[in-house]
Amino acid sequence: MPAIAIIGAQWGDEGKGKIVDLLAENVDVVVRFSGGNNAGHTVVNQFGQFRMHLIPSGIFHPNVICIIGNGVVIDPAQLLKEIDALKESGIEARNLYISDRAHLIMPYHILQDGLEEEARGSRAIGTTRKGVGPAFTDKTARMGIRICDLLDAGDFRKRLSFVLEYKNRVLTRLYDVQPLSVDELCETFAHFRERLAPFVRQTDAIAREALSEGRKVLLEGAQGTMLDLDYGTYPYVTSAVSGAVSLGLGMAPTSIEQVVGVFKAYITRVGGGPMPSELHDDCSEMLRERGHEYGTTTGRPRRCGWFDAVVGRYAAEVNGVTGVALTKFDILDTFETVKICTAYELDGSTWKKPPASSELLERCKPVYEEMPGWQTPTDRIRRLEDLPRQARDYVRRIEQLIDCPVSLVSVGAAREQTIPVRKIV
Ligand code: GDP
Ligand code: IMO
Ligand code: MG
Repeated sequence: MPAIAIIGAQWGDEGKGKIVDLLAENVDVVVRFSGGNNAGHTVVNQFGQFRMHLIPSGIFHPNVICIIGNGVVIDPAQLLKEIDALKESGIEARNLYISDRAHLIMPYHILQDGLEEEARGSRAIGTTRKGVGPAFTDKTARMGIRICDLLDAGDFRKRLSFVLEYKNRVLTRLYDVQPLSVDELCETFAHFRERLAPFVRQTDAIAREALSEGRKVLLEGAQGTMLDLDYGTYPYVTSAVSGAVSLGLGMAPTSIEQVVGVFKAYITRVGGGPMPSELHDDCSEMLRERGHEYGTTTGRPRRCGWFDAVVGRYAAEVNGVTGVALTKFDILDTFETVKICTAYELDGSTWKKPPASSELLERCKPVYEEMPGWQTPTDRIRRLEDLPRQARDYVRRIEQLIDCPVSLVSVGAAREQTIPVRKIV
């Protein structure tokens, strides 16, 4: 039962979209199992450059079934926009299936996301304001509305009327904003129902059947371990469990054969929260400009820093990473020296694991190891042995520090700009 999970091992934006598009060539099913359209997965292939928010990055392979699983929260307007944009580029979402159990992001969730961020003031999380947090909150509060509720107009109105009565009280009394109208929402969602109904399936059953028939299933993680609700830098995290391979899909954990951890060769983060090896100097600017480190979803500049092996080892352990996809390696090509954070120093003691408290992590000072750079372009290299020695040393050092083998090195955004090291699929 070969399922392969692709997970973000840092603070998101590690290049998961590229890796999924690349590996999808050899699989039968690709599933998004967590997050929402806070994710922005960039794919560069023969069809162009695409920013995927909800649709799995396997969609470019016509024979691959793409599933938006029950662990994802879905903004129907955004999903339709994405389906239409793909169609304009000649990509039909013919094999796209949406879970009937997935929760909807409703207009009040988007409103709440913005209002809650404003209310947090200087302690704002820096969310994408897509309504993802409030939608997951309602899911656990048993106040959510699901895709299966959307399918029946009568049931939808009943469920919405019940939920909106409470929501409108929050909107008007707590935030002093206008209430939303059941009739107007029902009208908008009637259009979503009509367009999305053909995509809805019991996707968990489809995935289980594929696995039982021995077909290969790729699980496309969103966000990253350090943004995980449990394992990340709480409260500066997102609302879904993204790091530990979550089963927002409906399959046994034993069906996961491999876990590919996607790590950038340095680190980035968008939004607030601690990041011990963050840089505030020319190197940070160089990483941002060479790496085009601006958010795929919000366009915000990403904070940049040296590779953090404390986070790296932790993410590898938490997720049970069996192989590393080391991305954006080419971005380091011009540096005279490169650094790796190997430990944190806090009040005179050394930390080899990130502390749970964001307040403590904020005060952690990175301990660096410095290595000579390779100062040679790597974007055209396709074999590990052709990398300059210093570059190979850097790869090997990361393997040692996070105690995990590297399966591939990515040296550019395009599919072919990849150095395979160990077979994944
Ligand atoms: P994701 O959210 O993990 O899928 O990552 P994003 O798409 O948000 O951010 C990764 C960015 O790096 C995108 O612009 C990719 O096109 C780009 N990218 C991915 N891998 C590489 C690589 O190896 N080298 C370079 N130069 N760019 C890459
Ligand atoms: P991909 O899948 C990077 C961050 C936001 C913010 C925090 C909470 O492309 O790697 P949210 O809107 O989720 O409530 O925001 O999480 N965040 C991401 N950062 N990549 C992502 O996704 C992210 N998804 C959420 O910037 O700090
Ligand atoms: Mg992204």
